[in-house]
This record gives sequence, structure tokens and C-alpha cells, in this order.
Amino acid sequence: MNENIIIINCGSQFTQLIARRLREMKIHSVILNWDVSAEILESYSPKGIIISGGPDSVNEPDAITVDKKIFDFGCPVLGICYGMQLMAKTSGGVVSSGTSSEYGVTSIKRNENSSALLKNLPSEINALMSHGDHVSKLPEGFAATSTTSGGVISSFENANKKFFGLQFHPEVVHTEHGEEILRNFVFDICGCVGDWDLSNWGETTIADIKNKVGDKKVVCGLSGGVDSSVAAVLVNRAIGENLQCVFVNHGLMRLNEPEQVMAQYKALGLNVIYVDASEKFLSELAGVTDPEQKRKIIGRLFIEVFEAEAKKIKNAEWLLQGTIYPDVIESGSKKGAALIKSHHNVGGLPEKMNLKLLEPLRDLFKDEVRELGKIIEMPEEIISRQPFPGPGLAVRCLGEITKARLDVLREADAIFREELKAAGLYKNIWQAFCVLLPVKSVGVMGDSRTYNEVIVLRAINSQDAMTAEWSRIDFDVLDKISKRICNEVKGINRVVMDVTSKPPATIEWE
Ligand code: XMP
Repeated sequence: MNENIIIINCGSQFTQLIARRLREMKIHSVILNWDVSAEILESYSPKGIIISGGPDSVNEPDAITVDKKIFDFGCPVLGICYGMQLMAKTSGGVVSSGTSSEYGVTSIKRNENSSALLKNLPSEINALMSHGDHVSKLPEGFAATSTTSGGVISSFENANKKFFGLQFHPEVVHTEHGEEILRNFVFDICGCVGDWDLSNWGETTIADIKNKVGDKKVVCGLSGGVDSSVAAVLVNRAIGENLQCVFVNHGLMRLNEPEQVMAQYKALGLNVIYVDASEKFLSELAGVTDPEQKRKIIGRLFIEVFEAEAKKIKNAEWLLQGTIYPDVIESGSKKGAALIKSHHNVGGLPEKMNLKLLEPLRDLFKDEVRELGKIIEMPEEIISRQPFPGPGLAVRCLGEITKARLDVLREADAIFREELKAAGLYKNIWQAFCVLLPVKSVGVMGDSRTYNEVIVLRAINSQDAMTAEWSRIDFDVLDKISKRICNEVKGINRVVMDVTSKPPATIEWE
């Protein structure tokens, strides 16, 4: 069993980042929602617990809280920001509201006393604060270990109980020596050794799947994407022909993509049923321009088509999904609602079809899925594939979706990607694609006036798709792309470039 650090998520935007930082130290962590019971939490045999930040104020009557029994486990607990305030309040301290001056990067000064958590840190560091509340009276047995320039307690600890609190965020890059603080916690204080390793993980997981599934059948909806492909190859290695995959062509893929993807699956030895449902999708999308409406129709149809195919597979007991770690992070919202990123393609299916869920990648981050793909010798073109949204070109074909407009978009998009590849730029871009606007502008071609639609070039770089920076592409490359699109794609007389990052924009246009 892995050594586990449990991260209790109280709704911070940085929760996943804590897990990421731990993984970089080869520590396995499990993120659980704030309302998890102490019993469930204990079943993970945690070496330590981290309580995340969160947007609430502990003094609000309905503020979220954690099961107090976790403070009796005897294992080290680190509270970050809201987590620290919760620890303070639970242990008998006082939390006061309203120090907005402490928002942002603040200078922190260590106190004279020694601190296992702040071991080997300089006496002063800059750290990111993102909460208005602060601990104004220490609980009994706790000592302040650092203070902000404004005199606020920025960290405290109860060395006997191994309880630690940080008012700032060690997990973000804006906090100097944040990694060392987390290292001190997991290695020195919790006694972890850091033995999480992907190279053995594949073999162990294949053996686990064999055990779990036995001779039963597994169905899987393939999308052409990295996650579902890696998951399918892994399960195929475990149970062979008993994995039956279904690839639904919704008519919203890029140029020649369904054929290429099917050929790749075949080469990998996967058992795949190809379903061409493009006409069904296009006819139901006819006349629809609202982005949410488009997504809903596609999601519903996908389930319908997939379910109909999967039902034909006799004795299927399991549904394989390519869910990865960032997809399973639950929100710390009061309603306790799961914020699972909707894998629109198979959402809701397991319950509906009475299938058990198999999610072998749910512990891995995206880059680890790619690394695993390499370890199990999958072709580079699959594992380095750029993310592609489930609803496909529907969210890139603004306005009405018609076969003709999709074809225009496909051609332009293929040129864009082809030229980026030729210039050696494609592999260093997180996502590059075209968007077709339902806007006409006047142009001139030869001696005639044109009145055609507009293509947008969208290229971004990102670490995790949560934030993104628009890619600076060489002007000469852009010039070539623009000329080729206007010359070769009938129906386009203008090409523009999207120079917006995320936030404030999103990566996709719909
Ligand atoms: P946005 O546009 O929200 O996109 O900045 C973030 C990332 O998610 C992808 N995306 C999706 N992926 N189903 C998916 O599997 C979807 O419905 C979907 N919508 C957006 C998007 O391409 C980007 O990588």
C-alpha cells in the first residue's frame, strides 16, 4: 500500500496544487471532501493530513468544518489558511476577520523559537496570503512561529501534538521556500519516504485489473484522446479480448480524424466497434446556436448512441473510464456537490446501465498519463495528442452547425496545424486550433468583392488548462497560415488571431 497523505479539501482553488507538489516529491496523496468522516479517512492509514484553504470564514454560522475526531488520530496535521483557522478555532483559539491588507504577497518573519515546519528557512520570506481572517488568539499549547510585517500570526504549531498551521500558501510559486515547508512536513514530520513510482505502477495496475475483473467483460467509450486510449491499452493488457471498446463518430471530429484514430486503435490491438452517428448528431444540432444547448444535445445523444451499442455487448459488467486525478477533485462547497469535470461522453452511464466503474487512471495527473503511455510503449502520436473537447468542433463552430461550415472549419484547422508542425512549433503548444465565426466581412479577391466568414487562430500554452497564456507565434508563420487559409479554404476571406489568455477568456470559444 502507498504511503498516503490525505488532503482535506475545504474549497480552495489551490487544493489540486498541493497534491501536485506532493507528487513531485514522490508522495501519494488522496484528496477528500471536507465532510469526509474520520472513519473513512482513517481507512487510508494516513501518514499525515493537510487541511486546505477555502473561501469561508470560520466565524460564519454555516461555515464548513471537518470531523473533529481527525485531530485525535495522532498523525501530524497541517492546516493551510482556512485549514489553520479551523484548527485554531477547534483547539480553542480565536479567529478574527478583516485584514484585507494581508492579501497578496506579504513578508513573513520567523520568530525566535524553533519550528520543525520552518526548518532551514531564512529568517524572512515572501509568502502568498489569500484570506482576510487571521488567528488573533493562540489556542493553548500552540506557539506562533512566524509573523507578518503587519503583526499577524502567519504560522503556528503545537509541537507535542504535531499540529501545524500556515496562514499563507506554501503550494504556490509566489511563496518563497514553499516546497521546503511541504518537504519538512511530509518527510521530517510525517516520516514519509517518497516511494511513489510510475514505472512499477503500470505492472501493478495491470495485475490489479486482472484480479478485479476476472473473466468478466468491460466496455469502454473511446474518444481518440490520451486518457481513454491509455486506459484502454492498460486494460487490454490485463484482460485482452474481454475489453470491448466503442468509438462514436459524432461528425464533429477534425479532418480525417475518425479514420486516423481507428487505424491507431487497430494497430494497438484494441477491439473497437466503430459507430458513425454523425448524421444523427448533425440533424439534432441543426438550427441550434446556443453554446450550452449544443453541449446538452451532444451529451445526451452520446449517451444514447453509446448505450445502444454497449447493450449489445453480452455479459458486460464493467465500464472503463479514462478519468484522471484532476477530474475527481471534489469541491469544498457547502452542498458538498462533486465538481467532477463532466466527461460528457459517458456521464451518468454507469448508474443507468448498471455497470461497475473501472477507472485505473484516477490517481494520475495528465503528464503522468503521458509518461505511463511511454512506459507501456504507446505511439508518440497518441500520447502527445493535444486535448480536444468532448463536444468537438461544435464548440469551435460558432453559430449554426452545418456540414458545410464544419468542412470549412476542418480545412482551415488542418492548415493551421500542418503549418505549425512544419515550423516545428506544434509540439510545444498545449492546444492550437481554428474557430469559425458566424460573422461576415468584406474582402477582395482578384477583381471581385467577397463577403465571407472569419477564421480565428487560437493557440495557447498551459500547465493544466485551468489557466492559459496565448502563444506567441512567429509572424512569418502566421502570415503563411493566413495566406493559405484565404487561398485554399472556400468561404473564408479573413483570418484573425486570438490574443487573449485564460482568464479572462476560456481556451475554447464556447
Ligand atoms: P476551457 O474552454 O474551459 O477549456 O478553458 C479547458 C480545457 O478543457 C477542454 N474542454 C473540454 N474537454 N469535454 C472535454 O473533455 C468538454 O466538454 C470540454 N470543454 C472544454 C478544452 O479543450 C481545454 O483543454
